[in-house]
Amino acid sequence: MLKDEDFILSNGVKIPKIAFGTWQIPDGDVAYNSTLAAIKMGYRHIDTARAYENEKSIGRAIKDSNVKREDLFITTKLPADCKGYDITIQKFNESLANLGLDYIDLYLIHAPWPWSNVGADCRRENIECWKAMIDLYNKGLIRAIGVSNFRVDDLENLIHATNFKPHANQIRFFVGNTQNEIYNYCQKNNILIMAYSPLATGNLLSDKTVNDIAKKYNTTPAKILLRYCVEKNTLPLPKSTHEERIKSNLEVDFTLKEEDIKLLDQVRNPELDRPLRS
Ligand code: A2P
Repeated sequence: MLKDEDFILSNGVKIPKIAFGTWQIPDGDVAYNSTLAAIKMGYRHIDTARAYENEKSIGRAIKDSNVKREDLFITTKLPADCKGYDITIQKFNESLANLGLDYIDLYLIHAPWPWSNVGADCRRENIECWKAMIDLYNKGLIRAIGVSNFRVDDLENLIHATNFKPHANQIRFFVGNTQNEIYNYCQKNNILIMAYSPLATGNLLSDKTVNDIAKKYNTTPAKILLRYCVEKNTLPLPKSTHEERIKSNLEVDFTLKEEDIKLLDQVRNPELDRPLRS
């Protein structure tokens, strides 16, 4: 079952194959209750970000779950508009305090540019962020470091400047939106792709091909979409605030036949005009 499986990052660190995604889960009771439910149901990987403004509630849920710290894998992210060495260290420490933790499993640069200025050239500043993250990693405060929403040239910028390859790149990835250029680059370079919005924020759940295949496997459209991500060697992070869905998304216990993966490869992206955001 997916919930019991891991990927291995390029530095040897094990990372659970599915994460509980918390983007768009409001802070307070909703974030606390859904994260606590997720951990109780067996999720061992929680994905958050400073920008989601729910780290404190998630931290409380982690504490109250009574699951041993070393059995959990926590991912969080440096805000996209925080560019520079000192601000990276500062924001990292704030995330640690918010989450009530003394180390983070995976810390990511949330985006190569501020969301208010998508596409801006922040190459120099990203190198400073990356150097700070390497220092935190070398001090043992982070077990793995990576990026999010990075394209090939953004990644090469970091690698050429520091000779330190990110362990992961979290991108918007789902059936119909497989971002082939960055996907192929990361696969070739052993950079794990983490698939955010694996259900296309819900927009693929009524797709006919997805539903036909779900019937064939006697399962749900959501599970077909999640299994597709794993078949593509990516780590899905489905978000839900409903307990029965949180549970069901974790219980993916089948593999997809090649012929069905090919059918899914043909599905048109339902969100073609939607801007990138996580
Ligand atoms: P909700 O939070 O109300 O359960 P993504 O992970 O791609 O961002 O998609 C999240 C969206 O999909 C949310 O709107 C969530 O709604 C919905 N969702 C998550 N899991 C399921 C599921 N198993 N069945 C139907 N809808 C789901």
